[in-house]
Amino acid sequence: MKGLVLAGGYGTRLRPLTFTGNKHMIPVANQPILFYSLKQLARAGIRDVALVLGPLHETIQETVRDGSAFGLRVSYVHQGDPRGLAHAVLCAREFLGDDPFVMYLGDNLLQEGLERFVDLYQREHPSAVVGVTPVSQPSHYGIIELDGEAIVSIEEKPAHPRSNLALIGVYLFGPDIHPVVADLKPSRRGELEITEAIWKLVRSGHRVLPHPVRGWWKDTGRPEDLLEANELVLTTMPSEAFAHHGTVSREASLTGLVGIGQGTVIENDVEISGPVVIGAGAHIAAGSRIGPSTALGDGVVLHGAEVRRSIVLEGSHITGPVRIVDSLIGRNVEIRCGSQSPQDLRVTLGDAARVQL
Ligand code: TTP
Repeated sequence: MKGLVLAGGYGTRLRPLTFTGNKHMIPVANQPILFYSLKQLARAGIRDVALVLGPLHETIQETVRDGSAFGLRVSYVHQGDPRGLAHAVLCAREFLGDDPFVMYLGDNLLQEGLERFVDLYQREHPSAVVGVTPVSQPSHYGIIELDGEAIVSIEEKPAHPRSNLALIGVYLFGPDIHPVVADLKPSRRGELEITEAIWKLVRSGHRVLPHPVRGWWKDTGRPEDLLEANELVLTTMPSEAFAHHGTVSREASLTGLVGIGQGTVIENDVEISGPVVIGAGAHIAAGSRIGPSTALGDGVVLHGAEVRRSIVLEGSHITGPVRIVDSLIGRNVEIRCGSQSPQDLRVTLGDAARVQL
């Protein structure tokens, strides 16, 4: 069994936050989104993984390298322009050979691991296994209609959805997918659609098994999705993942699960309500309030600021009586609040932004 992780795509909806990087490297709970899929593949016993990269691949290859840090052998497939999920499969044809493979959209997060997917495939040897879960806005997703286990229809982002069951971004394919993908024509939006390929498998009598996933699933296409993903990951992370390094003043108050990186200093009169993770070399000065559901990257500095349900990337400084809620703050951002009374702020800020309140 092989793995195919897709990290091509323009990531248009997250461009404001990633103009110096790739959206798959945005951290959720202080880990790049992409790492979650790589770790789950490794945990499911998969070794050979290809990462599909698009035009904005800066930092991914330099960080993941040969994948040995994840217990994987990672190779790279350059897709060029992102012409659809099925196009990515086409580009990876040589790497995949005729082996079955898990295809994982690199911007997706799935609470449960891949073991049950792989077990189902090993037991039944279908042409495909597709992860499914109910969603509240079906017109935003690939939607599957079932009659028992039988697939009645599959439609990509339907205007009039026939069910609320979405295809999540995790699939398992056998070699039957290849001739179907090779035969696809671009859809109305100009992409080779994996949903169409799956539907063609079904129509031509191949067995495609829907696999209802357990727990939460999150597609992190938009800024608000990242905050929700951050909250979901933090609230379901095992307690041992919240390591305590750094120096914490005895007069600081920490409640719930709080992870603190090497060299981080938490001064007195600081209140942290977990779940919260703080990276290495951060400085949380007196009067600051953090959490819940907040991730602060390496080297973040807070001076008397409050940060709730937010992601702050490395090197950002926030000074003054400012209350930051539901916000995504890029790398090396500076926010200064000169006023005496606390100011409320709900923002998405790209790297190196400067804000004076
Ligand atoms: P999408 O969210 O569909 O596309 P995108 O990344 O281009 O984002 P946006 O719509 O904001 O422009 O992509 C889902 C995942 O699949 C994502 O991790 C990128 C990846 N992908 C590819 O690898 N190749 C492709 O051709 C496409 C369309 C996406």
